[in-house]
Amino acid sequence: MSVPPRLIDPFQREITYLRVSVTDRCDFRCVYCMAEHMEFLPKAELLTLEELDRLCSAFVGLGVQKLRITGGEPLVRKGIMTFFRGMARHLESGALRELTLTTNGSQLERFAAELFDCGVRRVNVSLDTLDAAKFKAITRWGRFEQVMRGIEAAAAAGLAIKINAVALRGVNCDEIHDFVAWCGARGFDLTFIEVMPMGDLGEEDRLDQYYSLEALRADLETRWTLTDTQERTGGPARYVRVAETGGRIGFITPLSHNFCESCNRVRLTCTGQLYMCLGQEDDADLRRVLRSHPGEDAPLIEAIRAAIARKPKGHDFDYSRQEVAGQMSRHMSHTGG
Ligand code: GTP
Ligand code: 5AD
Ligand code: SF4
Repeated sequence: MSVPPRLIDPFQREITYLRVSVTDRCDFRCVYCMAEHMEFLPKAELLTLEELDRLCSAFVGLGVQKLRITGGEPLVRKGIMTFFRGMARHLESGALRELTLTTNGSQLERFAAELFDCGVRRVNVSLDTLDAAKFKAITRWGRFEQVMRGIEAAAAAGLAIKINAVALRGVNCDEIHDFVAWCGARGFDLTFIEVMPMGDLGEEDRLDQYYSLEALRADLETRWTLTDTQERTGGPARYVRVAETGGRIGFITPLSHNFCESCNRVRLTCTGQLYMCLGQEDDADLRRVLRSHPGEDAPLIEAIRAAIARKPKGHDFDYSRQEVAGQMSRHMSHTGG
């Protein structure tokens, strides 16, 4: 019997999770993610939907079992449902265990039912506040009511929902109990994320924004009974159960508790660059390989293997000396989180 091909990095970590940013564009301008006036890539730079399919399928053939579509905002990419529909075949064959996305929720009202139809069963919605005015201040261009309708539509379509909130000091840390109650009442998972130094935002200061999840958890425990669980969703979050709601809260702690040793993922940008780590600059140009070998998969597979062989141990983000270390020049919207 032939052994299925697998991607193993130099630290013996198996790569089973591919995050794919399908566009750098977004209909929001979250203050910690983008500058208000961003320059986006010319459309000709983007991988076509066919190229995205070919690349993702190559990864699935190499043992990737979880595919997360991100952006920018993935649902503003024209024709993206064609791509989801194409990926559904890998769910049907059993090669892929999960096809999912991380979205700001603005387009869910339109697409939720179709996503479910393509085999998506779970969506992560980035939502940093439950207060409409604050939402405007954080997202600059976002419309809170539209996102609420999107979330409702997703739930109605049968999608499980996880809310992702980046913990921002002085911005949303007074709302964490509301988040727990709100998500608990609706049966949504909730994940808090520590803010990472991705992209130079000019006036925004990461150290001022940063609120450690150790502090946030201690704050939560003044109101809620939290019990650690071993439950995992295949990403970096570590979960607790909330006795009072029965709900689940995840903590993503790149700063206060590094989780790189169990990293199982790589990320593909909308221009076909493969980043082996969110917090390092090294990348591999898969678009070049793809375009110089149309219809031939061997060189692509070779290039993917060579890239995985360069996967670094982890990021160098660190705020502990009261300064920002490990800063990345690229924005989160480039790699999709
Ligand atoms: P689940 O499938 O629900 O576990 O999702 P996930 O946490 O893998 O994906 P999601 O898009 O919800 O990720 C949430 C955030 O976690 C991302 O936007 C990043 O900010 C952060 N994150 C995800 N993977 C990594 C990683 O490998 N390193 C670091 N430093 N942060 C990551
Ligand atoms: N640090 C942590 N998370 C971030 N996100 C965007 N920028 C940052 C950052 N600098 C999150 C968004 C979304 C996901 C794609 O990444 O809130 O949940
Ligand atoms: Fe858009 Fe998400 Fe970045 Fe906000 S965090 S600007 S919603 S990509």
